[in-house]
Amino acid sequence: MALPTSYCSLVGCSLPLQQSPMGSVSSVDLAVAVADAGAVGTVTALGLSPASLARLLDDATARTTGVVAANFLTAAVDRAAVEVAAQRLRLVDFFWSDPDPVLVELVHGHGALVSWQVGSVEEARVAAGAGADVVVVQGDEAGGHVRGVGSLLPLLAGVLDVVQVPVLASGGIGHPRALAAVLAAGAAGARVGTAFIATTESGAHPAYKEAVVAARSGQSAVTGTFSVGCPLCATSARHRVLRSCIDAADAADDGVVGETTIGGRRVVVSKGSPLSPAASTTGNLGAMALYASDAAAAVDTVRPAGDVVRGLCDGAASLLAARTG
Ligand SMILES: Cc1cc2nc3c(=O)[nH]c(=O)nc-3n(C[C@H](O)[C@H](O)[C@H](O)COP(=O)(O)O)c2cc1C
Repeated sequence: MALPTSYCSLVGCSLPLQQSPMGSVSSVDLAVAVADAGAVGTVTALGLSPASLARLLDDATARTTGVVAANFLTAAVDRAAVEVAAQRLRLVDFFWSDPDPVLVELVHGHGALVSWQVGSVEEARVAAGAGADVVVVQGDEAGGHVRGVGSLLPLLAGVLDVVQVPVLASGGIGHPRALAAVLAAGAAGARVGTAFIATTESGAHPAYKEAVVAARSGQSAVTGTFSVGCPLCATSARHRVLRSCIDAADAADDGVVGETTIGGRRVVVSKGSPLSPAASTTGNLGAMALYASDAAAAVDTVRPAGDVVRGLCDGAASLLAARTG
């Protein structure tokens, strides 16, 4: 069902949805499946050299005609990697740093668009002023690292009042009713993460996917538990995870809780590490960072990502049509 918005016409997707960048969860397979379904698939550039990022993006764009974005986290971005992304993609995405007109110009210089995820009305104003083409407003309902200074709907209303560019709503959206709500409020789309963790294509460990499927409303919480060696936590150690992993981490002995593979090498996962369990991770998986929001309540099984996209967008379109029709 059609649900076109200003975001769709700007970035070239057919559905007003961006899959969140999610570290090891947001595999190329996931981004390609989401892009194939008509929404925006996003991969993360974190930890990749410009050459590795180029290979990853060339692979992703060769596998889909849909829209793929790349995400850069923190102020410590590699300008060469940003250029690699801007040369290959329609959309380059930033989070967890002050909106920077120099980075925006760098991306625009290669003909790509910039989206910037912000956590407050003031930061949205600054992002738009810096030249961002899309502003993503994150409420504190969001899974993962939380920059949002309050609940999504009041923040969204405030941002829509001051920003002229398309605005995406982010945080806790996993049900078609939630997507319909933010579209009805004036958002040009939604950024959705948690609802894509339990998909066939995601890079999450099967036990992490099952924990998301099992979670009910109210079973996520904001914590600082997973801050050991976390670059994002230097500025703010607020991350939303499933409550079960906070309890399991509290109960675990200090020291190593498992092992995982990064860049082809096995590394230890310490108690309190920000690394979430990926397919290659072994050990006490339940005590690792199971980033997720209460959007998990709408996830009842592991599905192909395209089904998640269609379920959310078709459902929201029907709800909105029923209200106006
Ligand atoms: C598992 C997970 C990992 C995340 N990693 C990133 C990331 O690497 N970069 C980023 O910009 N945002 C990241 N986020 C936050 C998202 O950008 C977004 O704010 C969030 O997914 C929205 O809330 P939701 O999960 O309830 O849909 C992550 C979120 C989750 C759930």
